[in-house]
Amino acid sequence: MRLKDKTAIITGAGSGLGLAIAKRLAQEGAAVVIADINETSISAAVNEIQATGAQAIGYRIDVTKHEDVKRFVDDIAEKTGQIDILVNNAGVTRYRAFDTISDPDWQAVLDLDLKGVFYGAQAVAPHMARRRYGKIVNISSSLGTGTTPDIGKLSAGASAPYASAKAAVIQLTKTLARELGPSGVNVNCVAPGFFLTPLTSTTRSPEEVKEHIALRTRTTVLNRPGKLEELANAVLFLASDESNFITGHTIPVDGGRTDRM
Ligand SMILES: NC(=O)c1ccc[n+]([C@@H]2O[C@H](COP(=O)([O-])OP(=O)(O)OC[C@H]3O[C@@H](n4cnc5c(N)ncnc54)[C@H](O)[C@@H]3O)[C@@H](O)[C@H]2O)c1
Repeated sequence: MRLKDKTAIITGAGSGLGLAIAKRLAQEGAAVVIADINETSISAAVNEIQATGAQAIGYRIDVTKHEDVKRFVDDIAEKTGQIDILVNNAGVTRYRAFDTISDPDWQAVLDLDLKGVFYGAQAVAPHMARRRYGKIVNISSSLGTGTTPDIGKLSAGASAPYASAKAAVIQLTKTLARELGPSGVNVNCVAPGFFLTPLTSTTRSPEEVKEHIALRTRTTVLNRPGKLEELANAVLFLASDESNFITGHTIPVDGGRTDRM
């Protein structure tokens, strides 16, 4: 068990990659906190994890609300006595052609994908620093590292706010690593390629999903989308003591995206 006696908060853990990460960390002995805005998915996730004999609790939280995030984290710290791991995973995208992006679109994506990460890290930092131990893992995206030359109608070309936020998360990771390193806290990041989740499927029509899978299969040297547990394994590594001498870095988990090689 690589995370025995650790407490891990995973934001957006009610579905998709966040749920896969929570399940993987729980398998390795962590007590996981399913932090999500969606009440229904929280209880399903908690039940699923508890059914395996692992420890899980749920907490409804909107990570875009600064004071709420702080209160939530303080509450967890009080209940568990420790916060060892934070995975800043909650995220959203709005596929829009650049000339149709509205202020609310821009704001909604930046608030969740960038500010949510900042709020989470700021809330856990004092608890981690006090114990001189902590692992923060941020979730960026391939779209935060570059654009893609081969774009479908609703593909990377229609993700300006998302790409901007995800690029900023990589830089925020470096800054936080520098500031929190002296307190014993590692801050790293993972940049997923393409994984089939509600984020990538329900935001598109079935035809667009098919088009997108074909596109991402073509532009990945392993010729397939990622499996959720493959992403979760990278997060597990960064959340565990196996990565103690790594901080400020971003690991792409993307099957070898040809537009990144
Ligand atoms: N799926 C992919 O291919 C892919 C690729 C690159 C990056 N990512 C990133 O991975 C992360 C997870 O994505 P996913 O594909 O699993 O998406 P998803 O839509 O399946 O899950 C996102 C979760 O975040 C929760 N959430 C939404 N708003 C929230 C808020 N304000 N506060 C708290 N929770 C909130 C949702 O309820 C949901 O459970 C995101 O940051 C996403 O940008 C995903």
